[in-house]
Amino acid sequence: MVRDVRIYPDKILKQVSKEVKSFDGELTTLLDDMYDTMIAKGGVGLAAIQIGVPKRVLIINIPESEEKDAKQPKENTLEIINPKFIEMSGSTKYQEGCLSVPSFYEDIARYSRVKLRYQDRDGNEHIIEDDDFLAIALQHEFDHLEGKLFIEKLSILKRKKFEKEWKKKRL
Ligand code: CO
Repeated sequence: MVRDVRIYPDKILKQVSKEVKSFDGELTTLLDDMYDTMIAKGGVGLAAIQIGVPKRVLIINIPESEEKDAKQPKENTLEIINPKFIEMSGSTKYQEGCLSVPSFYEDIARYSRVKLRYQDRDGNEHIIEDDDFLAIALQHEFDHLEGKLFIEKLSILKRKKFEKEWKKKRL
């Protein structure tokens, strides 16, 4: 089921999400709804807080090609619960966007390589490592669990410009 995406400056986006302790039907429904919502809104990643659920849950589904109508089959979805970075190194810049800040894109500095420990929907532990787009997406979505948005990483000047344009757009 597609749920409403919370849009900046909705205060819930600042909440720090809580660790998932029960891997039950409620979690399964949350993950399924997050996938439906992400696909409906044309995203590549989504954190639970973006649909108003303060749990440490995020999903990422990188399209199969660079084409506009590239498929994102459900089985390609990375479901990440209670993530913890265990290694981060290097640096890179990538043009990021966010379903909670629609139609705004800006280059953001990130680590270029990350290693992350997480649990899947059954509670089993995994480790994932990446030095490509997935590494960026993991850092972006993880920030949501900490109540942070990518626009907080903008320079003061760029942030001011963004706030001005954002207000204008929302009038
Ligand atoms: Co986002």
